[in-house]
Amino acid sequence: MNTPRFHTVGIVGTGAMGRGIAQIAAQAGSTVLLFDTQADAIAKARDALGAQWDKLVDKGRLDATDAAAHKQRLRPAARLAELAGCDLVVEAIVEKLDVKQGLFAELEGVVGPDAVLATNTSSLSVTAIAAGLKRPQRFAGYHFFNPVPLMKVVEVIAGLKTAAATCAALTDYARQMGHTPVQAADTPGFIVNHAGRGYGTEALRIVSEGVADFATIDRILRDQVGFKLGPFELFDLTALDVSHPVMESIFRQYYDEPRYRPSVITAQRLAGGVLGRKTGEGFYRYVDGSAQLAPEPAAPRVDDIPPVWVSTRAARRAELYQLLKDLGAKIETGQSPSPQALTLVAPLGFDVTTVAVVERLDPARTIGIDMLVEDAATRRRVLATNPATRSDMRDAAHALFARDGKAVSVIRDSGGFVTQRVVATIVNIAADICQQRVCSPQDLETAVTLGLGYPLGPLAMGDRWGPANILEVLFNLQTVYGDPRYRPSPWLRRRGAIGLSLMHEEA
Ligand code: NAI
Repeated sequence: MNTPRFHTVGIVGTGAMGRGIAQIAAQAGSTVLLFDTQADAIAKARDALGAQWDKLVDKGRLDATDAAAHKQRLRPAARLAELAGCDLVVEAIVEKLDVKQGLFAELEGVVGPDAVLATNTSSLSVTAIAAGLKRPQRFAGYHFFNPVPLMKVVEVIAGLKTAAATCAALTDYARQMGHTPVQAADTPGFIVNHAGRGYGTEALRIVSEGVADFATIDRILRDQVGFKLGPFELFDLTALDVSHPVMESIFRQYYDEPRYRPSVITAQRLAGGVLGRKTGEGFYRYVDGSAQLAPEPAAPRVDDIPPVWVSTRAARRAELYQLLKDLGAKIETGQSPSPQALTLVAPLGFDVTTVAVVERLDPARTIGIDMLVEDAATRRRVLATNPATRSDMRDAAHALFARDGKAVSVIRDSGGFVTQRVVATIVNIAADICQQRVCSPQDLETAVTLGLGYPLGPLAMGDRWGPANILEVLFNLQTVYGDPRYRPSPWLRRRGAIGLSLMHEEA
């Protein structure tokens, strides 16, 4: 084992986060002093970590002598003054600015002049916590994720007065602890909690418009984009007493920036105590830890499917034709649909109603299909009706697109379907993070894939489905909703033509 960059590490606050950080610090070879104001918190943390290491030994994943050495390196500190010999102190106490400021003021009088001080805050400004310090240059944010040993990323955050050497030392040490460090500017939500605003917030907005229910939105985003958990499953896992305040805090800290606007749906659920898995009920109900899901409605049986006409402006038109052929549809190739035809449109960003009106199509026979993601790459097809669509046309389209056994969801009309809206919002917020230089594009991709578990980094996601398509979705959503929330970031507009994940820094 290499000599750890910090020999003696103090952990203040030994709750969920503090004990996780203590674990990886001890595993990296540092002596770890644990301090907490709650009487039995330190003993509980040591017991929990001891049990954790014993379990790893039982599973054959840790040597018994290493486990004994790790345990031996964890030491209780009865008073803050006992942290005097630490060369790093990481704070993981309550998320309150004045309490954290008070703690660091006290710590400055305890540790030596060269010791590094770090906060694990997830939502407070690092610069604000450091405001009263005599030596703010040795202070930085060190933002881990829960559970620390499994979430292998840490944001290293420089406040306005943090010295580069402080961040460099924390970065080196993160690697020694087996974590991937990313550098973030001191901005609301740093990288991960800021980038995460695209997913759940847009999904909530879609629900609030009555376009589709929670479970349908979860299925669509899992099957079309490859997210491991749908946004509502994720809300249930994280619990709304954690996620809703994060949404509010980032929105307020950015002075009510419409991109981050929270939803009344989560505010109400939070007030009602419907928090998620931990209360047994969130967006789903849980029995013995598993979500109770109503079965998905089966595709209707339709014996006589009308001929299909596809709009000349459909996205991926050639691919849609091929798909219809493969599904055995009768395809009309005339300039306009015959009076019997099921009429298909595949807009990017626009709603089905607008397209039907603009293209002079009969709305009663018009159905939309989301073609942002190519059919071969998706496990689900998503169709949208408009308010005038006849139920026989809806059922015919549903039955036709389900013919090869692929799942089909039918949603109500909205600009941009579900996937287009959510993906475009994620990419746009990511682009804005780059525009603000919160971090480098590389660190953004790393932080989001490790911190949020997305199947692709948001910039790679934009490239995967085409920056020009994403921009088209956003421009059209802006037209449909007249909402500045969909205003494309200038970074996206400039990079749209050359690719988003091009990793060189602009001069
Ligand atoms: P927790 O409630 O599990 O643990 C906090 C611990 O700090 C408790 O043991 C408490 O007794 C102790 N404490 C409170 N005030 C203290 C003081 N003045 N001096 C010494 N000890 C004190 O909280 P958790 O979840 O571990 O969060 C701690 C910090 O980490 C917060 O700033 C939080 O925002 C941040 N954070 C939390 C994450 C999470 O998912 N739980 C993720 C990333 C950051």
